[in-house]
Order: sequence, then C-alpha cells, then structure tokens
Amino acid sequence: MISPSQHLVLVGMMGTGKTTVARVLGDRLSRPVLDSDAVIEARTGRTVREIFAADGEPAFRALETEVLRQALASDTPSIIAAAGGVVLSATNRALLKSSGARVVWLCADPATLVERVKGGGHRPLLDTDPAGTLQRMFDEREPLYREVADAIVLIDSRSVGEVVEAVLR
Ligand code: S3P
Repeated sequence: MISPSQHLVLVGMMGTGKTTVARVLGDRLSRPVLDSDAVIEARTGRTVREIFAADGEPAFRALETEVLRQALASDTPSIIAAAGGVVLSATNRALLKSSGARVVWLCADPATLVERVKGGGHRPLLDTDPAGTLQRMFDEREPLYREVADAIVLIDSRSVGEVVEAVLR
C-alpha cells in the first residue's frame, strides 16, 4: 500500500494510459497530479514536439530529468505520470529509487499500444514505423521499467477503472 506521505509514480510505455490513470488516481486520493510532459510544456511554453524538433532529444531529456527531480523533491505527496522515456537515464532511475516514491509500471504488449498511440501529438519518436519502434523501445526499456518498479500492473485487457483499482491494490 502507498503511505500518505509517499509520491506515487506511474511509469510505462507511450500509450499505456499513464496520464488518464494518474488523473483518476488524483481524484480518488485527493492528490495533485503532475504529468512530466505537461510540466515541460508549461514551463518552456513549447510543445514536446517543438522541443524535439528545435533542440533535439538530449535537450528534452535534460528537461525531463529536472522536472522529475523537482516533482520527487516536493513535500506534497502527488501522483506523477512520468513520460515513457524517463527510465532511459540512469540518473532518473537513481532518483526514483532514492526518493522513496512508490513506482508502478503500467505494462502492455507493444502490439496493444499501436492503436492507442495513433494521432502523432507529443510523440515525435513514433512518426515513422510506430509498430516497429514500439517493439524496439519495449525490448530496450523493459528491463529498465522492471528495475525501478515496486509493482507491475498489466493493462492489456483492463479498463481505466480496472487499472486504477489494480494500482491501488
Ligand atoms: C516519450 C514519451 C512521451 C514523450 C516523448 C517521448 C518516450 O510521453 O515524453 O514523445 O520516449 O517514451 P508519454 O509516455 O506520456 O507518451
């Protein structure tokens, strides 16, 4: 169970529903919700796509680390929806481990995600060959999600409500 003082962090691939699930959890637990992409966009006044295009992925990743660090350092226990690539950085993984936050991995078969990520939006990495890219990303990231996760919730055949219940359990 999550303690009243612990942050709850959702990690997982693009399209697993981290943002939606985080919102429902925020309502259920009466906690603020932070979505790392949304914080970056609000702070920079630019979209994730614009940052990737103008400054490149490393610049985006640096912002991501700063946002994660600040979110985890906050005294207000929150629900943090951490964008899919957060686990790529060893610094971020160490931050998650040392923060005392409860980390839940929303895990899906990459094939499930292909339909869910349609529409481009804030996911420039999926502009070309989304199915192949998601599979490659999953292969690379699966051990990293596993490394940081305190719990794993399989989302493939679950509704948002069922995922929320599983996270709370
Ligand atoms: C990314 C995930 C996206 C966004 C960016 C890169 C990734 O966030 O940060 O497109 O590398 O997995 P979501 O996981 O919220 O879609």
